This record gives sequence, structure tokens and C-alpha cells, in this order.
Amino acid sequence: MLEDALWISPPADPGDGAVAFRRRFPGRPGRKATLTLTCLGVYDAYLNGQRVGDCLLAPGCTEYEKRLQAQTYDISDMIRAENELTVTVAKGWHRSRMMRKRERLYSAPCALIARLDMDGEVLVTDSAWEAGPSSVVFSDIWDGEACDATMDTTAYGPVRTVDWPRDVIVPQEGPYVREQETLSPRALFVTPRGERVIDFGQEITGYAEITLTARRGDRVVLTCAEMLDRDGNFYNENYRTAQSRMTYICRDGQQTWKPRFTFFGFRYLRVDEWPGEPRMDSIRAIAVYSEMARTGFLRTTHAKLNRLIENTLWSQRGNFVDIPTDCPQRDERMGWTGDAQVFCKAACYHYNTQRFFEKWMNDLRASQRPDGSIPDTVPNFWGIRRSSAAWGDVMTVLPWQVFLMYGDRGTLARNVDAMKRWVDYITADTLERDLWIGPDDADIMWQKHYGDWLALDAAEGSYHGATPNDLIASAYYARSTLLLVKAGKALGRDMAAYEVLYERIRAAFRDRFDLTTQTACVLALAFDLTDDRPAVAARLNRMIRDNGTRLSTGFVGTPHLLYALSDNGYAGTAYDLLLQEAYPSWLYEVDHGATTIWEHWDGRKENGTFWSADMNSFNHYAYGAVADWLYAVAGGIRPDEDAPGFERVVIAPVPSGRIQGFEAEYRSVRGTILSRWTNTEEGVRHEISTPVPADIILDGERHPVGPGTYIFYDQRKEQ
Ligand code: BGC
Repeated sequence: MLEDALWISPPADPGDGAVAFRRRFPGRPGRKATLTLTCLGVYDAYLNGQRVGDCLLAPGCTEYEKRLQAQTYDISDMIRAENELTVTVAKGWHRSRMMRKRERLYSAPCALIARLDMDGEVLVTDSAWEAGPSSVVFSDIWDGEACDATMDTTAYGPVRTVDWPRDVIVPQEGPYVREQETLSPRALFVTPRGERVIDFGQEITGYAEITLTARRGDRVVLTCAEMLDRDGNFYNENYRTAQSRMTYICRDGQQTWKPRFTFFGFRYLRVDEWPGEPRMDSIRAIAVYSEMARTGFLRTTHAKLNRLIENTLWSQRGNFVDIPTDCPQRDERMGWTGDAQVFCKAACYHYNTQRFFEKWMNDLRASQRPDGSIPDTVPNFWGIRRSSAAWGDVMTVLPWQVFLMYGDRGTLARNVDAMKRWVDYITADTLERDLWIGPDDADIMWQKHYGDWLALDAAEGSYHGATPNDLIASAYYARSTLLLVKAGKALGRDMAAYEVLYERIRAAFRDRFDLTTQTACVLALAFDLTDDRPAVAARLNRMIRDNGTRLSTGFVGTPHLLYALSDNGYAGTAYDLLLQEAYPSWLYEVDHGATTIWEHWDGRKENGTFWSADMNSFNHYAYGAVADWLYAVAGGIRPDEDAPGFERVVIAPVPSGRIQGFEAEYRSVRGTILSRWTNTEEGVRHEISTPVPADIILDGERHPVGPGTYIFYDQRKEQ
């Protein structure tokens, strides 16, 4: 792609500012014309003053040394007899300071490459283009954007051509990032400390758009936060070094401005500078994320549960900005593989994420190292060398999940070799055959494995929960091997050797590990690594009850916790955890004002103080994985492994007397599946609709049915 075009750069490095590239050319209106382009950074393009396309942050976020997406736009309707094309290039991810390995490995220039096709006539980037200054004088993914509208941007000069690889350029793969919801302020107030603060009532990822009448040189400065402190003051220490600031220097008159090349995670904005007083209608917040069709809807009669569901949705929106990120606000915003691994199932119910994840799986494979290991973040902007269990396992979990939900064998065909290389990596990495055993590095803060990250049974001051790394790593070794076997078989391959390996891992796991933590029991049950399910389930249930019906699990245990209970006879305990309001619990967050999912169960403590400023995001979707349990168990809608892509469906709802009414709707690729239950005087009334043959399972009884709507009554049973 773009082989005949040249990379062009401004004569001098623009630092943190953006550069406008310009080309004037004659055209023939009415003829077909396309523009294909990409850059090192992010760009927007204008033809004759009109925006080309509406996607943001193009060319997107990829493993740039290996893959750089280019976008093609149909510009036929925009061509005139005389044309001016301006493409502004800012730092984006590629040249931002988050690209830490850049200092070590390479330094990318500000550069553009483009090709215009006008009915056979071709125009490419070369020395005939010009470069000039942009009013975007500062732009950074972490730190924000500054625009000087008073700037004279008319002086253009020559460009230089630069040598940069073109063979990494691939066509756009993922869905475009676009502007989505628009939110008006809920409140504008002055804090006890005297700060002017705007509250949008909802944490989002995006930016603010301001409209005001001002004089030339007036300044607007807005700084982002997720929280107010317990005294009601603005609090953004948890953003760490990310400045997250929008700065605008006004021209004369009425004007509207918003950032063009970055995004922020925020609910509150502090108005640091504003000419006069902002009004409620001077500012709105615009959510920005990847285009995905909504496919899942959960509706209940339980108001707090509904808020929790909303929070999982907003955390998905806020962290699906071209790649799945850990968080959208502090100085990370990285494609942490473990976070995506645990949330991908929920994500696939809430939205159609097929294209989004297919693109990221291409990044995963591009990042996979020769030894088969997967870096802990993809793209690997920090040059992380490690590969943690439950993080790297995204390489097996994600393709299988996407295949189950959307039914495309191509997903497995593209990824199965990478899945195999991941399993082979573990086999080669372990110190003990048939398990994944590492060196004893318990004292090292940044161990190879993250373990049950942020679990509450952690030693004081530690991020790693009490479940041994070797146990978690070995459980995931089994899990990944099993998923590889399933994927290979679905493709008609002979997987006998890996089936044998899987059985050996299972046996070794059973012999080796004592299940002494909640997460240990959860993994043994969820990954089928015990021959004594009833005893392990009873032990897990007892641990939770003895703990005051409270969980102590972290990133690894939590996503499977409710399944481990409800699939093994303790649905009542699962519901009690789901609806628990005392700390630590999902509804504790809701009771404490959460509008997205928190990174820590105790992100905000009962006394209103914060867990820490160091690692405390309030928009981290990992624990939002609970949403998939609501679809798959409470609503009971599960893909049938033998008929993926919902060619058949299993609908096995598990109702609870603690919720009056519950409804899960999933718009599968084969049509809408609905499972609704209501507690009535006569017992539980189920209404189930399926567009495909289904196995409806109620109270252990299987009812095979064809497409249609069915009503069942069963007696309420408490466990
Ligand atoms: C991120 C996590 C990530 C973790 C690795 C953190 O800094 O925010 O969500 O998975 O590091 O343990």
C-alpha cells in the first residue's frame, strides 16, 4: 500500500505541536476520487475546508513497527476545479511520551504519506507538498491539547522526504473511533477550596467542546478529574503524571473549540481559566470510542444492579478506543492483555466487538515474540519484556471467545498457530513439567506474574493476592491448552498431543496444589481442575460465608467467582455476592457514587479517602466482567460450543428471589435471544424467545425447542 508515495516531514521537528501539510491541485468535479493516507502520529484531513470522513485518532493504535493502518476515503463529492488538501499531523500515540521504548529503540519523525486517486490520475506525497504551522501548539495522549486560535497559520514552506518503512502499512482493520454520546453539565459549582468545577454526572472518555464569546488572547483552561475528595474538592492525583488538560487561546468573537488529537477520561472539569464565568450551556462533554453495534441489554427491577450494569457499559465505552485499554485517564491507557482477557466475554455480549477484537488480535500476533510469549501490553509501547500468566493467555481466550460469539472459523484459523506458540512457550518456560512453575520471586514487587492482581487477601502493601503465582499460572496453562485443543478440533486438526498434555496438566495440578484461597477454589472449579467439585464448591462457599458473604478475589478470581458458585449449587451465594452492598462488593462502588467500574474494590474507602494516588483508576473494566455472568447465568444465554455463532443456543436462566424481575436480551448474529423472568405468586414465570433451535434448561430439566417464544413456570427454589 502507498508504495509509490514518499514519507514527507516538516524541515524541523515540531516537538509537541502539530504540523499542517498542504497540497493544492486542479481537479475534475464529478469524477471518482479517493484519498488514502496514514501518518506517524494521528491526523485529520480537510479538503477545501471540509473535513474528510469523521473518524478520530486515525490511523489508530497498532504495533507500529510491524503494522500501521492507512485509511481510504471516498472524496468524489468534495473535488472542485481548484482544490486545497490540508492534513494536520499531531503526535498521537506513536510520538507521544507514552511510547517509552522510543527513547531506547527509535525515534519517529512527524511524517505523512498519502495518495490521491482521481479517476486514473494519481497524486502522491512528495516534495511538491508544503508544510506549515498548526494552531494545535501542543498535543499528547496523556497530557492533553492546547490550541492557539490567534496564531498566523498561513506561512507554508517546503517539506523534506524521509526514509521510513512503507511495507508495514496495512488497510484499516478496526472500526473507526468516532464521537458518540454528548453530555450536558449536571452542575457547575465552586468547591470549598474555591475551584470552579463542572460535573457531567457520568465518567466518560472523550473531550469537552466549548462555545463562548471572547476577545483575542483570552484563555480557557480545563483540567480533568474522575472524583472529588471527601471535602468536595477537585481531586486528580490519581492521574499521576498525565496532565489531562485542555487549553484554548481565543480569537475575537463567538467561537467553538474542542481538541482534535487526544482524549481524556473524566467526569469533572476544573475551570482553571475562562474569560468571565462559564455557563451551563458553554460546555458539553463528548464521548469518543470505537464504533460498535450495541447487542446486549440487561434490564432488572433492582435499581442499584441497573446502575452497576450501566457502569460496566460505560467502562467498556471508555476503554474501547481503538484498542482495549486498562484505563482512559492516568499515564497508562495501554492495551493491558490481562484486563482484556477477563473482560472480553462481557464485551462481546454488550457490543458486537468482532471487528474491534479481530484488529487487536492482529496486534497480538504481531507482538508475539519468537519464543511464543505475549508482552503484557499490546501494542508494547513500553517495551515490556515479561509475559504474565492470565495476561498472555489472552492469546487463547480471546480468539475462542470471539469464535463462540460470532461463529467465524477464520478467527481460529488466523490465530490457532499463535495459540499453539503460546502454549509451547509455557511448556518451554516452566521449571517443572506439566505445570507452569517459575523461580521463587515472591519478594520482588514486579514479579514475572501479576498473580491475582489487587486481590484483597494480599499481604499489606502488596498488589499481588495470596493465591500462589504457580497455581494461577498452572491453571491458566491448563485453560490455554484446552482452548487450543478446542480451536484445533474446530478446524479439523489432529490435537491428540495437546489433549494428552491437557490431561497431564490437570493431573499435575490436582496433585500439586492445595486450594486455600477463594481464587484457588474458583480457578479449580471454573477450569475443571478438580475431581471433587462438591467439596471444593462447599469450601469456596464456606470461605465466602465465613468472610461475611464477601469476596476477597482480584483480577484473576473475580471474573469466574460467580460462575464457580452458581454452576456448582450455590447460586444463592452468587446472588448474595452480586447484591452485597458492604465493602468489598460491586454495589459498594455503586453506593459510593461510581458511574464506571473501579480498579480497586476500595478505590474510595468508607471514610471517603482514597486507596492511594498511585494506582487508583475509577474506570477500569476488569471487575465489570460480572456483566457476562448476568447474561450467561442470570439470563442463562450461552453460546453452544458445538454450534458457535448462535446457530443453536443454550438458555439456562438461574433466577433469584432477591430480584423481582430480570431480562437479558442478546442480539446475536442469528437474531435476538430474550430471557425474561419474573417472581410471581405462582412461582417464577419465564418468558424465553429464540430465533434458532435452543436447549432451554430450567431447574435441571432440558427442553429442546425450535425458534419461537415460550412461557414456563417453575417453583422458586432458594439455595
Ligand atoms: C494496569 C492494570 C494491569 C496491571 C498489570 C496496571 O498498571 O493498570 O490494569 O493489568 O498494571 O498488573
